[in-house]
Amino acid sequence: MEQLLVALDVDTVAEARAMADRLRGTVGGFKIGSRLFTGTGPGFVEELAARGDRVFLDLKFHDIPNTVAGAVAAATRLGVWMVNVHASGGSAMMRAAREAAGEEAARRSIRPPLVIAVTVLTSLDDSALSQIGFNTSAAGQVERLAALTQAAGLDGVVASPQEIAIIRRHCGPRFSIVTPGIRGAGDAKGDQSRTMSAADALAAGASYLVVGRPIIGADDPREAAGRIAVECRA
Ligand code: C5P
Repeated sequence: MEQLLVALDVDTVAEARAMADRLRGTVGGFKIGSRLFTGTGPGFVEELAARGDRVFLDLKFHDIPNTVAGAVAAATRLGVWMVNVHASGGSAMMRAAREAAGEEAARRSIRPPLVIAVTVLTSLDDSALSQIGFNTSAAGQVERLAALTQAAGLDGVVASPQEIAIIRRHCGPRFSIVTPGIRGAGDAKGDQSRTMSAADALAAGASYLVVGRPIIGADDPREAAGRIAVECRA
């Protein structure tokens, strides 16, 4: 299932490689986040990309424009398919990220990665936002930052299941919405509170689903991924 991205949230390359090998062909790509990347470095990202897997490098860059541009250029050289930044880094930072991806890809005659932005971390609620000085609700802030992301020329945003519909309405059909927090009826929620089933998230307008533990923690990850695909087709 092309829209299903599996979070390889493990500690070692050996575990990540074994999981990717089990899932290849049933899922649309693999997400590598700060846990695996910080522990093991860029080699495995390059390895997956070189064998043709779609890699979403989820490092959520947030720094001055020049530094983020350099990081996005480096990610482009690794061959990633999608990379992300924090929208709260601002419009100039996001534009620098977009340009760096385009320029580096042109130099190498490759297709530039999709560059998307995190609006508001799903772990932040209204009171946590007010603590850090934001006086809008999480929903209002998501809407504002999604619009800023689109205006900066980025390809889409990461959004919780609850935010999909409003972003889709405001940003139109071509804007990518990447949604974690996917849980089936029988899945443990873990630390995710606002969850939705894969089928419901797609129906609400998600472009891609990020699923971690319900697949990588299953006794049979391939079967678990297949089950989600069947549920979405039904
Ligand atoms: O295991 P689970 O399905 O909860 O994994 C979801 C993945 O999506 C994790 O890698 C998590 O870091 C990531 N993520 C998230 N919420 C966000 C952004 C990313 O759960 N807002």
